[in-house]
Amino acid sequence: MSRKSLLAGNWKMNNLIADSETLVKGLVANLGNITDKDILICPPFMSIAKTSEIIKGSHIKLGAQNCATEDNGAYTGEVSPSMLIDAGCEYVIIGHSERREYYKETDAIINKKTNLALSAGLKVILCVGETLEDRELDNTFNIIERQITEGLKNIDVTNVIIAYEPVWAIGTGKVATPEEAEAVHAFIRQTLANLYKNDSSQSTQILYGGSMNPGNVEGLMSCPNIDGGLIGGASLKVDSFTDLVTKA
Ligand code: PGA
Repeated sequence: MSRKSLLAGNWKMNNLIADSETLVKGLVANLGNITDKDILICPPFMSIAKTSEIIKGSHIKLGAQNCATEDNGAYTGEVSPSMLIDAGCEYVIIGHSERREYYKETDAIINKKTNLALSAGLKVILCVGETLEDRELDNTFNIIERQITEGLKNIDVTNVIIAYEPVWAIGTGKVATPEEAEAVHAFIRQTLANLYKNDSSQSTQILYGGSMNPGNVEGLMSCPNIDGGLIGGASLKVDSFTDLVTKA
């Protein structure tokens, strides 16, 4: 089955509104007409409105990096999925390893957010990945299987994208080899096939994340189960993201 590639920039907590404006304008100029790949940018909350305004009329898509577990009410400081839709988002990243580690998000919290975001009409990029310690203890597949099974409990996978992000490769410049990444991606697809006894595992996009850059994107994208990337550092500059998307 052929799956459309998805290249998603995760800006994390970078860029003031004015910086975002410059970056998005550059990306729209370079990449705004591309239709054979999905191109997504996920700015910080504060830059979502400005980004939404600038990408109008282009094919670039907009997403957020997190959402609340509840849709409204007394939850000081939180942003709900329906607020993200209201602001122009089509996607949300859930369960990034930085949220799991620094904000103690458990699989149960991630499952709740995923469920709510999907019901609100967002597409969810569910992040999974092992730490260096997990990998050295040969626990990679166990961890991934648990994160997928718990994260997707009672969830229809149709609007879910999985991002495999080995924690040891995020922001470290250390990238998984295409062989290492493909082995996990194939395992993820098999795990989905076991969970959903239909063909949906074949159409699910599975992204690689962790130091993806213009120099390694081609090798990674040549693997049969790698359908795109979730890109941090290399998505923060017009030139490197343009180069990466062009080569993908
Ligand atoms: P990186 O980040 O590309 O800077 O390694 C990827 C991510 O954490 O989504």
